[in-house]
Amino acid sequence: MSETSDQHLVVFTPSGKRGRFAAGTPVLQAARELGVDLDSVCGGRGICSRCQITPSYGEFPKHGVTSQESALSEWNKVEARYKEKRGLIEGRRLGCQAKVEGDIVIDVPAESQVHRQVVRKDADDRVIELDPSTRLYYVEVREPDMHDPSSDMERLTEALYDQWQLEGLIGDLRIMRTVQRALREGPNWNGKVTCAVHFGRKRAQGRIIHVWPGYFEGTIYGAAFDIGSTTIACHLSDLRTGATVASSGLMNPQIRFGEDLMSRVSYSMMNPDGADQMTKVVREAINALLAQVSAQAMIDPEEIVEATFVGNPIMHHLLLGIDPVELGGAPFALAAGDGMVFWAREVGINSTHPNARIYTLPCIAGHVGADAAAVILSEEPYNADDITLIVDVGTNAEIVLGNKDRLLACSSPTGPAFEGAQISCGQRAAPGAIERIRIDPDTKEPRFKVIGCELWSDDPGFEAATASTGITGIAGSGIIEAIAEMRLADVIDIDGVVRGTLATQTNRVFSEGRTWSYLIHDGAQKIMVTQADVRAIQLAKAALYAGCQLLMDELGLETVDRITLAGAFGAHISPKHAMVLGMIPDCEVDNVRSAGNAAGTGARIALLNSGKRREIEAVVRDVEKIETAIAPKFQDHFIGAMAVPHKTAPFPKLSKVVRLPDSAPAQPPESGGGGRKRRRARV
Ligand code: FES
Repeated sequence: MSETSDQHLVVFTPSGKRGRFAAGTPVLQAARELGVDLDSVCGGRGICSRCQITPSYGEFPKHGVTSQESALSEWNKVEARYKEKRGLIEGRRLGCQAKVEGDIVIDVPAESQVHRQVVRKDADDRVIELDPSTRLYYVEVREPDMHDPSSDMERLTEALYDQWQLEGLIGDLRIMRTVQRALREGPNWNGKVTCAVHFGRKRAQGRIIHVWPGYFEGTIYGAAFDIGSTTIACHLSDLRTGATVASSGLMNPQIRFGEDLMSRVSYSMMNPDGADQMTKVVREAINALLAQVSAQAMIDPEEIVEATFVGNPIMHHLLLGIDPVELGGAPFALAAGDGMVFWAREVGINSTHPNARIYTLPCIAGHVGADAAAVILSEEPYNADDITLIVDVGTNAEIVLGNKDRLLACSSPTGPAFEGAQISCGQRAAPGAIERIRIDPDTKEPRFKVIGCELWSDDPGFEAATASTGITGIAGSGIIEAIAEMRLADVIDIDGVVRGTLATQTNRVFSEGRTWSYLIHDGAQKIMVTQADVRAIQLAKAALYAGCQLLMDELGLETVDRITLAGAFGAHISPKHAMVLGMIPDCEVDNVRSAGNAAGTGARIALLNSGKRREIEAVVRDVEKIETAIAPKFQDHFIGAMAVPHKTAPFPKLSKVVRLPDSAPAQPPESGGGGRKRRRARV
């Protein structure tokens, strides 16, 4: 573009893109020519207001530009009408109406950017770039002409091509049934419609999924699902702003067919319609959650046009109605594991728009699922130089290790103990549940905090503050801290045996039949940690540690630089206590961080940014899969990791911040550690 006197310098912020334009060029056109990210749904007709810009002045003192009039055209009728009818923030203009008249700096506010960044609220401050698979397009379709016969669908797709350069769009029978009416007002031709277009794997595979008459004022929504073996979580997002507008969760109703994954596979093997039953209940739960989040956000479920799903391979197959029986044993063959797009109705999801599409993230292998892929997408170790160990703690732990050069993944069957199941006083994280605990190493007296109260149990006012919730049990993060603190206070020995001999010093340790327990709270409900609880956590944490160790062996690592704890309650786990317990390998405590529900975040990223779907599909193809179930060393690692924190690993970095007791092991219950025998011995 040559510089002439009637060409004006236009600079867009925040992109910094600049160019010279002839007087009279609409700002939207200038933005498009420069590749500036300025939104539009109506194609510059002054209807959608997506193109709002804020002109700023006085940026070019040498030209002396100081007023709006000298830099942009006067308000025209379209803008004035828009402002009068709908209102426009002071200082804003419509980019499609305002024309360049002088040198100017134009700011594109965040809400006018197509690829605006959505700040993640749930974990750290990383952002998701908004680029959803389903978008809205307003078009004006030419009237039918007897002399040039063409169908409504033909003219609609022609308009979408002419006005938006959308090539090869198709609409199926459900759309064909609605398009006639949408294009007409009664018997009269109107021709103005807004289309929701879903783009599949390629832009050329777009499908029209809804046609609204006129300009559609509303918005469209998408739901991101994380289907865990124990819980199902759903986040509802506005696809035009990226905002999360509602979230909800449910227990996975498949639990009644088996608590862990293998028992669900067994149920499917033993019962001819077992897989179908589990498919039916999980789909019912998904529909119930969609209804719940729609009610929370006060929207019609039909406004939900998309959903993304992550889950382990067995959850993934059961959702899709595929029998998971092959995943129950080697070679753990997935029936299908790529990133896939389906009609929601095809998989029994009805509480959405009838033409809604769903996307399932890719599974990594028959034992490492789309949830692990979602964790990888959320944490992006494939872009990092540092080697990071990512542990997604759940009924089945997903473990990922590596960096941009090499990425390994495995899963480890930890069972539901970390989520409070199989623990005598275990409960879901809810008000009244103990989440923090400290034990005095000398007196063995505990102090604790419960969810819903900021005070510690030995603070004045604690009793009154917890009167309404009560003290009802121990949450997952609480049981990890409780057992780690029991170890630090030498209430349990390195093998996890509760020291019955302490019963002479404190009534916190008491006998229960043949074993000993530790009493945390004696109130309306006795809250304690039993020997069986310690065992259940030891089994879970040993499986987790052994999985981490297998991956470290593969990379030839003794220690790792960084550890990220993910999972529904990963955010609440104290890194120090997780290490004292020996859930995770030795690491500088400051380099252990929580990432919140990374699998759920991965599902949300894939919902809001279609490019990220392609990215994770490519990454997953290169992830090296390690099979824990058949790895000969898994058992050795598991046995060593049963100790607290570990039988042989020295944990030098942890030792810098805590002192682990080195007293002799307690007498094992099997050889005289039972309560009665010990009491007799004392007598
Ligand atoms: Fe729609 Fe400007 S592009 S109002």
